[in-house]
Amino acid sequence: GLKKKEVNILCLGLDNSGKTTIINQLKPSNHPNHLGPLSEEWKHVSQTQAQEIVPTIGFNIEKFKSSSLSFTVFDMSGQSRYRSLWEHYYKESHAIIFVIDSSDKLRMVVAKEELDTLLNHEDIQDRKMPVLFFANKMDLRDALSSVKVSQKLCLENIKDKPWHICASNAIKGEGLQEGLDWLQDQIA
Ligand code: GTP
Ligand code: MG
Repeated sequence: GLKKKEVNILCLGLDNSGKTTIINQLKPSNHPNHLGPLSEEWKHVSQTQAQEIVPTIGFNIEKFKSSSLSFTVFDMSGQSRYRSLWEHYYKESHAIIFVIDSSDKLRMVVAKEELDTLLNHEDIQDRKMPVLFFANKMDLRDALSSVKVSQKLCLENIKDKPWHICASNAIKGEGLQEGLDWLQDQIA
């Protein structure tokens, strides 16, 4: 049969923003429609997995497929001491998912600094690679709307790349599909 197009996706953002929780939701084992007859048991397993997410050390590589694409996702650690690893993966990446904790108002400026550094990097600048933003943790009471997050990060200044922002709740999986659909359209 036809080989699926292979795409590398880099998942970035500050520590505790929800990157690993999002990637975990995208893995087929966590999709209800992939569950077999023993679905209750599996549901239990995947919920346990979701609760056991710990801060990423360095990075993790996850692979999954959609109908037309074969994804390799680099789930990077957002801790400051590991952020220097990010740039080593820019060249080979076809798209970026940038995750923001919408409730972390104190560190919104830090997120903006990291985003600006990313966008100005020589391996990213002048490339038309799509950037998908998740304004995550929208379930928290003091979370900013995706419009507010977009303003805080000055996303309207991004002129050379297609970008899109979605509000999400990674724990429930809300908003993730919309973002992924957009990303697939950009890549396909
Ligand atoms: P690093 O690996 O350290 O860079 O962090 P990360 O971005 O991978 O964050 P992670 O997925 O580990 O999530 C951090 C914490 O936020 C965990 O306790 C998650 O359960 C929680 N979390 C993730 N997404 C959401 C969300 O949408 N809403 C709420 N309320 N909590 C979330
Ligand atoms: Mg992580």
